[in-house]
Amino acid sequence: MPQPTRRVAIVKTPVNNPHKGECFLGKVRDELNEVERELLVSIDPAKLPHHVAIIMDGNGRWAKQRGYLDRIRGHEAGIESVRVAVRACGELGVKALTLYAFSVENWKRPKREVDALMGLLKRFLRDEIPELNENNVRLVVSGRVNDLSEDVRAELSRTMEATSPNTGLVLNLALSYGGRAEIVDAVRAIVEDVQSGRLAPDNINEALFSQYLYHPELGDPDLLIRTSGEMRVSNFLLWQIAYTEFYVTPVLWPDFRRADLYRAILDYQRRERRFGEVKEV
Ligand code: FPP
Repeated sequence: MPQPTRRVAIVKTPVNNPHKGECFLGKVRDELNEVERELLVSIDPAKLPHHVAIIMDGNGRWAKQRGYLDRIRGHEAGIESVRVAVRACGELGVKALTLYAFSVENWKRPKREVDALMGLLKRFLRDEIPELNENNVRLVVSGRVNDLSEDVRAELSRTMEATSPNTGLVLNLALSYGGRAEIVDAVRAIVEDVQSGRLAPDNINEALFSQYLYHPELGDPDLLIRTSGEMRVSNFLLWQIAYTEFYVTPVLWPDFRRADLYRAILDYQRRERRFGEVKEV
């Protein structure tokens, strides 16, 4: 006699054990909505990315979507997303956050936009010192800093100095930054050291090369987030992203909030990182 088909209830198990991340709740200084809370408690504290890098894209489109005639409105709105990302990464215990704030190519934008971006940067550096200190964040910069105007460099130095004792998150602002330029700058420094006899060519290998990059102590990013849906690397951290996990979200940078960061981290925690190897069977 045919047996009746046994019905098995399919239980949807969450990928992450929810409530693992409850330890974060005490550290969060903003009021979380229900979605943010649910995402946060699902984050596994044992599998956090150490270094997160973000290509903050979509400011111009954000402004256009809202009917603003000026793209600069998008950059202005993007400052709040920077604050949110810095605060949220700090609370989670991420060690380093690299933000692509101004590329070497961005100098080719209309002067008015470049001036506006530099103005926003100066204001951010001036106004944000108390918030950075309150969150134990230390500021560093990556890029061809000498291309920046003297007043921007002065604000940068002041904020780096004021936050230098902080021991929590390192906020690495990529300014006048290009991945190829960084590699060229490293090559130049290596050649100088070889010519002066401080370095033997035989000692040049990948590990040594990394030491000549702008901030080798931060390590390679574990997670690279790009907003606005574009599938491009845009000359960002070319050496360092060899084995970085990519996460692209359609969210435009000025709309990027805690929930978006938490979603990116949860997605990262579901990946199997193999660094080109195979898992032993
Ligand atoms: C890309 O959007 C964004 C930038 C070139 C600048 C990013 C700058 C900020 C978020 C504000 C300043 C930052 C700090 C740290 C003070 P886009 O203009 O290319 O946007 P689109 O692709 O939609 O045109």
